[in-house]
Amino acid sequence: MTALIVARSKNNVIGKNGRIPWRIKGELKQFRELTTGRVVVMGRRSYEEIGHPLPNRINVVVSNTKKYSGDDLYTVGSLREALELFPAEDIFIGGGSRLFEEALSIVDVMYITEVDTVVDDGDVFFPEFDADAFNMTVGETAGEEIRYTRTVYTRKNLSRCAWCNLSNPLYVDYHDNEWCVPNFDERYLYEMLILESFQAGLSWECVLNKREAFRRAYDDFDIDKVVTYGESKTEQLMSDKSIIRNRRKIEASIKNSRIFKDIAQEFGSFGTYLQTFTKGETVYETGRTTSSLSDAISIDLRRRGMSFVGSTIIYSYLQAIGVIYSHDETCFKHRDGK
Ligand SMILES: NC(=O)c1ccc[n+]([C@@H]2O[C@H](COP(=O)([O-])OP(=O)(O)OC[C@H]3O[C@@H](n4cnc5c(N)ncnc54)[C@H](OP(=O)(O)O)[C@@H]3O)[C@@H](O)[C@H]2O)c1
Repeated sequence: MTALIVARSKNNVIGKNGRIPWRIKGELKQFRELTTGRVVVMGRRSYEEIGHPLPNRINVVVSNTKKYSGDDLYTVGSLREALELFPAEDIFIGGGSRLFEEALSIVDVMYITEVDTVVDDGDVFFPEFDADAFNMTVGETAGEEIRYTRTVYTRKNLSRCAWCNLSNPLYVDYHDNEWCVPNFDERYLYEMLILESFQAGLSWECVLNKREAFRRAYDDFDIDKVVTYGESKTEQLMSDKSIIRNRRKIEASIKNSRIFKDIAQEFGSFGTYLQTFTKGETVYETGRTTSSLSDAISIDLRRRGMSFVGSTIIYSYLQAIGVIYSHDETCFKHRDGK
């Protein structure tokens, strides 16, 4: 996958006097989260502004006047050379303007943060582009002093995993932006484990379509509330037509929540518990529904008393939270991990 990542002002400014004209914590965090473990390509001036290689990333500087080299640091003469150097990796083009200009015709995805400010006397701009060539999704709006909104532009007609139902925007968004993206936030780990357990015998698309309803029904997956659910709440859930009304699954979801909480207490967090199996590594494999990793976690969770956590469900869970990376070879998100 080739992506570009940029933050631009309302009047399209991305730089002023050799610097980014704002400092927004949430924006830096998103940049770090999206690019960690990936290749970041940047122009010489952008690199000089940072002043050092970005940690935990492969840094590629485009320059014909200077030569930077070192651990995870390369210099190339053009964008094409950068892409050829790492053909199997996810590449993030991080600016400045000429690289963005060149990248517009080839990127699969653009992560554009719209910064809610007008910058006077900006001297570097994000180029105009044909928005009709992309599908755009609007993400969160945040920020204290300066507000910003995340947007993701995905090129139309991209090849995706065969299972992805292109006529369901919710599913396409899940495929493009969530599935296989590492996310070890405790609340997310919990929500996904419960949702996956409802999948047994059904499709993930069916569960995903009901995700908002599940969030409403399960107190927004506030685990401290769910562990207190008793018989009357179970009956309430059984009569809620917007979710999957299967008594065994509903009862299991409450029991599993209590066990999830016990595990989190025992290990410090559920994420730490999972890492005792995964050792913090990402597994790259396609075309499977179980593995020795999902077997081991499934056996342990069942030993602890959970239900609806068979190896297939756990495999699917591990894909959802980004431990197993499985985008098809023909998908624009494919990576072989080499
Ligand atoms: N808001 C944002 O998201 C964002 C992101 C990145 C940068 N910025 C800002 O943008 C400004 C820097 O951008 P910039 O456009 O002025 O400079 P830049 O692209 O970072 O660096 C320009 C230099 O990089 C090399 N270069 C860039 N594109 C090239 C290409 N396609 N082929 C060959 N060489 C290429 C050339 O180096 P040589 O002269 O050495 O050959 C060129 O002089 C700064 O103000 C920075 O803070 C903002």
